[in-house]
Amino acid sequence: MDKKSYVFQQSHISVIGLFCAFLSLCLLYFNNNEVFLDKVIWINSPHINKTDPCGGRYIYVYDLPPRFNVDMVTECKRNQKTSAMCTFTMNGGFGPPLNNTEGVLSDHGWYATDHFNVEIIFYNRMKRYECLTNDSSIAAAFFVPFFVGFDLARYIGDFNVSVRDAGSVEVVNWLITRTEWKNMNGKDHFLVGGRPTWDLRRKTDENIDWGNKFLLLPAAKNMSFLLVESSPYGLNDFAIPYPTYFHPSKDSEVFEWQERMRKTERKWLFSFAGAPRPGDPNSIRSLLISQCNNSRVGKLLECAVADERKCRSPSNVMKMFQSSVFCLQPEGDSATRRSSFDSILAGCIPVFFHPGSFYTQYTWHLPKNYTTYSVFISNDDIRKNVSIEERLSRIDPKTIEMMREEVISLIPRMIYADPDSKLETLEDAFDVSLKAIIRRVAKLRQDMIDGRTNDDLIEIYGWKYALMEQGDYAAVREWEPYFPKLEPVNSSAESVINKQEDQT
Ligand SMILES: *[C@@H]1O[C@H](CO)[C@@H](O)[C@H](O)[C@H]1NC(C)=O
Ligand SMILES: *[C@@H]1O[C@H](CO)[C@@H](O)[C@H](O)[C@H]1NC(C)=O
Ligand SMILES: *[C@@H]1O[C@H](CO)[C@@H](O)[C@H](O)[C@H]1NC(C)=O
Ligand SMILES: *[C@@H]1O[C@H](CO)[C@@H](O)[C@H](O)[C@H]1NC(C)=O
Ligand SMILES: *[C@@H]1O[C@H](CO)[C@@H](O)[C@H](O)[C@H]1NC(C)=O
Ligand SMILES: *[C@@H]1O[C@H](CO)[C@@H](O)[C@H](O)[C@H]1NC(C)=O
Ligand SMILES: *[C@@H]1O[C@H](CO)[C@@H](O)[C@H](O)[C@H]1NC(C)=O
Ligand SMILES: *[C@@H]1O[C@H](CO)[C@@H](O)[C@H](O)[C@H]1NC(C)=O
Ligand SMILES: *[C@@H]1O[C@H](CO)[C@@H](O)[C@H](O)[C@H]1NC(C)=O
Repeated sequence: MDKKSYVFQQSHISVIGLFCAFLSLCLLYFNNNEVFLDKVIWINSPHINKTDPCGGRYIYVYDLPPRFNVDMVTECKRNQKTSAMCTFTMNGGFGPPLNNTEGVLSDHGWYATDHFNVEIIFYNRMKRYECLTNDSSIAAAFFVPFFVGFDLARYIGDFNVSVRDAGSVEVVNWLITRTEWKNMNGKDHFLVGGRPTWDLRRKTDENIDWGNKFLLLPAAKNMSFLLVESSPYGLNDFAIPYPTYFHPSKDSEVFEWQERMRKTERKWLFSFAGAPRPGDPNSIRSLLISQCNNSRVGKLLECAVADERKCRSPSNVMKMFQSSVFCLQPEGDSATRRSSFDSILAGCIPVFFHPGSFYTQYTWHLPKNYTTYSVFISNDDIRKNVSIEERLSRIDPKTIEMMREEVISLIPRMIYADPDSKLETLEDAFDVSLKAIIRRVAKLRQDMIDGRTNDDLIEIYGWKYALMEQGDYAAVREWEPYFPKLEPVNSSAESVINKQEDQT
């Protein structure tokens, strides 16, 4: 059993409990639980290699032609669509440093970071990773540093689909000719993208359709994608945190920040920063806005056009979140938002309205019991006029304190540290993501050796496998009603542009 997985490294009691939960779940959904057990649990957690501290965690970084990454960034001014992004690409993707003029940030490590820049941040961190190799025979995984989100941003809107797809097609065609690819047909390859999965899953070749189709290219299906939002109905894309404004370079900067967030005075019970979605009949945002506005203990930072500047100011947002006990995090144009991470950074307990906004997304980074760090109120309850104030007031102060402590303890895993000096002992979002992808590739490698093809995994159950891998079998049943077995409609150009305006 001890070889079986990290899930089972707890006590015997929890092993038995987990196993029972697992069995009953398998019986519920599948007939052949023996086979299923092998599929879901990632067996090969990397061993500590005594002769070589890097053994089992070497990363091979492709030396891609620079036009697929750094050239796009250095030439961003020349492209009308990306020129506005240029300021945000400085400092390795962190953007311009923030001055702590209002005293709500700390003096070091804060930047006006754009929510879509994680691919640049990840690449810069990877360049300094301590276990890089050019020897493909010892590589645990292969990193493809193509800035797919930046590439898409250049051609957003009025360009035709062949222009939008050109970069992706070229990268993939280049990759599949490489000997490094052929070992495992690309299954040991991964790519990091700063955009939600829907931007890279264009279903048709109509120019009016949104995004490019990178994730749907046949060869890309063999790779893994780390994106700020994954598809609940996909098997090879995984969600990693959106970047926040805080990029510390020392453990002590994190500890000091956490200590401050424990002590800060929170005068609002709940708050919301965001814009309504008048065009979307399903959106609950206007209901949340009116509940905030009408509550004595609610606070609103409106991000409608007139107030956009206020809402875009990192200090304003952080100030409000630091003064709030709970922060409302509804869906926007897609299920996730960067604001969830800002609220955790501020020690503000997030309130979610759909499990796809967080719980089924960031499973690599989150504890499995969502009630320990967040509150869930369904979209439907809000539509039925459930009072947020009343619901949140019912939670006793002791529980709130425990939840806040859990939120604050999550901070290190949710932030991207400064690659120049990397945190001494704490694991940040990069470390956690990299460990997880190495674990996944090790599992796929073992599957290949053992002749398992994984062809029987069901794509639309992607979100379930993610929770099961985390060991959260109860959640699979709990969230079932929230995930219809159909693909969601694609996001239209208009809605994604909205999203860009609603960064907070
Ligand atoms: C330890 O690492 C070395 C060098 O990468 C490798 O040759 C060896 O096979 C590894 N041993 C184990 C047990 O993984
Ligand atoms: C921070 O202050 C410096 C020097 O006063 C200034 O040049 C810079 O523009 C300020 N940064 C921001 C984001 O306001
Ligand atoms: C791998 O090769 C590239 C290109 O030759 C070189 O720049 C890089 O330093 C090498 N990396 C390692 C880890 O040896
Ligand atoms: C797409 O647009 C590019 C230039 O923007 C043009 O050269 C190309 O012919 C167009 N392709 C199609 C299929 O319309
Ligand atoms: C992707 O993997 C499958 C095996 O699962 C293989 O048949 C196929 O050729 C691979 N595609 C590419 C482009 O390597
Ligand atoms: C909030 O309430 C005030 C006073 O009732 C009203 O004037 C204002 O329009 C409301 N704002 C929003 C965004 O609903
Ligand atoms: C989750 O945590 C809450 C509060 O800490 C606890 O009451 C509940 O039993 C836990 N649920 C599970 C499934 O472990
Ligand atoms: C919603 O509830 C509030 C009180 O909690 C009440 O004032 C308001 O009229 C209700 N709205 C609707 C549409 O029922
Ligand atoms: C995707 O969205 C576009 C624009 O809203 C629409 O015209 C197209 O039919 C949609 N495609 C699919 C497959 O739903």
